Amino acid sequence: MATGFTEDAAADTVVESFAATPDPRLRELLSSLVRHLHAFVRETELTIAEWDQAIEFLTATGQKSDRERQEFILLSDVLGISMLVETINSRKAAGAATESTVLGPFHMVLSPRRALGESIDLVGTGPLAVLEGQVRSADGTPLPGAELDVWQANDHGFYDVQQPELQPVGNGRGLFTADSDGAYWFRTIVPAHYPIPTDGPVGALLEATKRHPYRPAHIHFLVTAPGHRPLTTHIFVADSPYLESDAVFAVKDSLITEFTPVDDPDLAARYGLTGPFRLASFDIVLQPES
Ligand code: BEZ
Ligand code: FE
Repeated sequence: MATGFTEDAAADTVVESFAATPDPRLRELLSSLVRHLHAFVRETELTIAEWDQAIEFLTATGQKSDRERQEFILLSDVLGISMLVETINSRKAAGAATESTVLGPFHMVLSPRRALGESIDLVGTGPLAVLEGQVRSADGTPLPGAELDVWQANDHGFYDVQQPELQPVGNGRGLFTADSDGAYWFRTIVPAHYPIPTDGPVGALLEATKRHPYRPAHIHFLVTAPGHRPLTTHIFVADSPYLESDAVFAVKDSLITEFTPVDDPDLAARYGLTGPFRLASFDIVLQPES
């Protein structure tokens, strides 16, 4: 290894220090990371005070994280890294599969299992909605027995885990199995838009940069079927605020879904409802495992 650290040679010197890394992918990742970080420091001529502040920020990000709260993921989310990783890793075959988006921090490992048609809303406030659609493979074959794990915030923009004293566990959540035609349908309420958690360093970053913390109204889906890649996505409510400026950059046009007002007693009765509701149709196409 060369001696005599210089601005120009610094990145090469550090990259060389990893030359004996046995895992070639680890060597590639570390080398690229060092080159990009060095380029950033040279380009911005980072001051020692700024470097100190960055270390303090990252330390606070770690200290805010625990089993329930992952501030590093939130940081990755607001920097657009989560969506970039997600998008690169789910490049779809010939445009057939449903687009993916971030998982987010509010997924529960096991949502309550519910029968098709049941409501995931256990509280009874908020505008009634029905979601329905079909799960298919990329070639159009229906996928009977596909599993759909869904979760959403309530009409005030809170998940059950954020309001344990107000919402029963499992409110806004359900695990459904598609029928013999790959069809699914369930009742719920139209969710509201909401802010991501702002009581940590990521909130301070948003405040310092005058960015808002809001996500447009959405319902999360994690859909699985044998022989297919699992799909993590959301559907976004078409008339929600913040569709154009999601704090975590997760909106894709193909995921924006109309929640159409329906005032038809026969259609309502088909879903076990008696009054007006909003109907959202969202078919899901999974990519076969390659
Ligand atoms: C969510 O949609 O649940 C979410 C995603 C990223 C950051 C915070 C919340
Ligand atoms: Fe969410």
